Amino acid sequence: MTYLETAAQFYSEVAQTPEVGLCCVQSTPLQLPGLKIPLVMQEMNYGCGTTVHTNELANQPTVLYIGVGGGLEALQFAYFSRRPGAVIAIEPVAAMREAAKRNLEIASQENPWFDPSFVEIIAGDAFDLPVDNSSVDIVAQNCLFNIFEPADLTRALTAAYRVLKPGGRLQMSDPISTRPIPQHLQQDERLRAMCLSGALTYEEYTQQLINAGFGQVEIRARRPYRLLDKHTYNLSENLLLESLDSVSFKVQIPDDGACIFTGKTAIYAGSQSFFDDGAGHILQRGIPAAVCDKTAAKLGVLKPQEIMITDSTWFYDGGGCC
Ligand SMILES: C[S@@+](CC[C@H](N)C(=O)[O-])C[C@H]1O[C@@H](n2cnc3c(N)ncnc32)[C@H](O)[C@@H]1O
Repeated sequence: MTYLETAAQFYSEVAQTPEVGLCCVQSTPLQLPGLKIPLVMQEMNYGCGTTVHTNELANQPTVLYIGVGGGLEALQFAYFSRRPGAVIAIEPVAAMREAAKRNLEIASQENPWFDPSFVEIIAGDAFDLPVDNSSVDIVAQNCLFNIFEPADLTRALTAAYRVLKPGGRLQMSDPISTRPIPQHLQQDERLRAMCLSGALTYEEYTQQLINAGFGQVEIRARRPYRLLDKHTYNLSENLLLESLDSVSFKVQIPDDGACIFTGKTAIYAGSQSFFDDGAGHILQRGIPAAVCDKTAAKLGVLKPQEIMITDSTWFYDGGGCC
C-alpha cells in the first residue's frame, strides 16, 4: 500500500466514525450572523487552523476546496458566496464525500440561507484538479498538503497554481515543524496521515510555495499545534509542531525574489520627515510601514541607525488600523 492509500483508508475510517480533536486545536467555532454549524461538522473538524478569512470574501468568489472532510469550511465559504457551484470541493475518499454531503444536508435544514447546491462535491484529488486553467478565485486546503511527500506537494502546489486566476489566492493551513522531522517518523504512514509526521520546516514550506510560482505569501497565523514528546515518539528531544495559516498570491515573483509578509514593519527615525529608499518604500518618520521580510532585511542593513525593523507578528493581511 502507498502512503496515499494509507491516508485514504484512514480518512475513510474517520468519515464513518468521527474522531473529535483529530487535527484541530481547541477553539470557538467561527461565529457569523445566521451561520449555524451542525454538531457533526464540528466533530469532523479535521483542520489545524482556518483558511476562511472572513474580511476578504466579498464579491461571491469561486472557491476550489481540496479535501472536503466533513464540509465545515466548504459551508463557511458558501456563507459568503451563496450561489450554486460557488464552492467546488474535491475529495478522493468516497466515505468522506458521502459524509460531507450528509452534513451539508443537515446544514441546509439549520441554515435558511444555505442550499446544498452551493457546494459541488467532486471525486478527484489534489494532483489532478478537474477544473480549467485560471478559472477560480481561491484554492483552499486545510491540513492536507502536509501529508504529502515533497514531490507530491510540488505536484499539488503546481495544480493549485494552474487553476487560479491571475491574482488568485491559495489559502492554506498546515502543521509545520520547528526542526526537521526524523526519518523514522516521516516514514510512519499512519502518523503522516494523521498530520503528525509529514510537516516541513517553515523555511522549506514557504520555499515550496515560491518554487510553485507564488510571488507573494502572507502569513495569517502561526501557533503551537502539537508536541511530539520524546518518550512517545522515540526522539532525543521533544519536537514542537506549529500550525501555519497562509495566503499565497498568484502574482509574478519580483526580480529580487518573492515577498513574504510576516507582520514586520519598518519605522524611520532619522532627521528628515520621511525616508524614500528609491524602490517604492516611503517611510514617514515615526509611523510603522508594513514591509515584507526581504525589504525588512534590506532596510535594516541600509540605515541601521535610522530605521527600526519590528519583529514578525505572524499576522499580516495588508490592512492598517482602520
Ligand atoms: C486532515 S483532513 C482535512 C479535512 C478538512 N479540510 C477540514 O479542515 O476539516 C484531509 C482531507 O483530505 C482528503 N484527502 C486525502 N488525500 C487526498 C488527496 N490526495 N487529494 C485530495 N484530498 C485528499 C481526506 O480524505 C480528508 O477529507
